[in-house]
Amino acid sequence: MYNAKEDRYDTMHYRRSGKSGVKLPELSLGLWHNFGSDDDADAAESIVLHAFDRGITHFDLANNYGPPPGSAESFFGAMMIKNLRPFRDELIVSSKAGYGMWPGPYGDFGSRKYLVASCDQSLARMKLDYVDIFYHHRPDPDTPLEETMGALDYIVRSGRALYAGISNYGPDDALRAIRILRELGTPCLIHQGNYSMLNRWVEDGLLDVLDREGVGGIWYSPLAQGLLTGRYLDGSIPDGSRASRSVFLKPERLTPALLAKLNALASIAGDRGETLSRLAIKWLLRHRHTTSVLIGASSVAQLDENLLALEGAGLSDAELNKIETILAMPE
Ligand SMILES: NC(=O)c1ccc[n+]([C@@H]2O[C@H](COP(=O)([O-])OP(=O)(O)OC[C@H]3O[C@@H](n4cnc5c(N)ncnc54)[C@H](OP(=O)(O)O)[C@@H]3O)[C@@H](O)[C@H]2O)c1
Repeated sequence: MYNAKEDRYDTMHYRRSGKSGVKLPELSLGLWHNFGSDDDADAAESIVLHAFDRGITHFDLANNYGPPPGSAESFFGAMMIKNLRPFRDELIVSSKAGYGMWPGPYGDFGSRKYLVASCDQSLARMKLDYVDIFYHHRPDPDTPLEETMGALDYIVRSGRALYAGISNYGPDDALRAIRILRELGTPCLIHQGNYSMLNRWVEDGLLDVLDREGVGGIWYSPLAQGLLTGRYLDGSIPDGSRASRSVFLKPERLTPALLAKLNALASIAGDRGETLSRLAIKWLLRHRHTTSVLIGASSVAQLDENLLALEGAGLSDAELNKIETILAMPE
């Protein structure tokens, strides 16, 4: 029987998502990798419970997380039944639809047909009456944005979700989506985008849009799937690491130029008495645009190391300048 730690809210800080009423923890946990039915369920359970014990109230899922697709949500549903049900009102659980999920023309992209059916499937797998945030996972070039945003509005109004979000939308599409949702009376809570020291596309217009429109930003793959940690600094690929087993992080990514960059960043972290992963998270948290940094973890030890990023001094201007110089190095 799981008893959540009584001091779970003592150290975590919570940031308001844009101009909404909702606050998210500075670190949130995503279940993209390590929580599928091919993974060790006991280890996965320990990570989720430890996260909650440390004040991580936000867990991010999507219809297709696994592998196989759907199995991360089923795992989370099993945890709802076994451990988390008493804490439902302390949790922000999100899911998404937008990538291919089932065969035929109604299991992908952004139609109302797909989004509503997928949300119902996610709720059934997660054993939830509602999700807190439901996202459209990626823009759909063919479906009118009015239809996709109308589906998010309907999902909220019908009680399947409390808030609507968008993910991977560029600045122009994000602005249009935000305005449509506002007109419908279901304001966009948050945008979920890929942002890290190695991927800065959101700085090219999206951050300004979110700031102006009062929409939060939650940044995924903040550690570049493990590259911005100590995991690969010597150029080798540890057994069991994401680069050794996931198509999403290919060993070819570890070029000599990238390794030089990562080691230069690690030495700045070392001078602070910190690790590269802590530096990478602090670098994102320095922004007022950041509502939450959405990490992954394959062990409790990794989670604990990443939580240390919330302690100690922030980055000085001199350190930020040094980081800029390193980030300008070619990969
Ligand atoms: N909206 C979208 O399109 C989208 C896309 C991708 C992700 N996301 C969300 O963002 C979440 C996080 O993404 P992500 O997993 O790519 O994030 P990440 O934090 O950049 O990478 C997490 C991985 O890095 C390694 N790692 C983490 N901390 C470490 C440490 N202290 N030391 C050494 N290695 C460490 C682990 O991999 P190994 O131990 O396995 O090597 C871990 O699984 C996902 O779960 C999902 O919720 C959303």
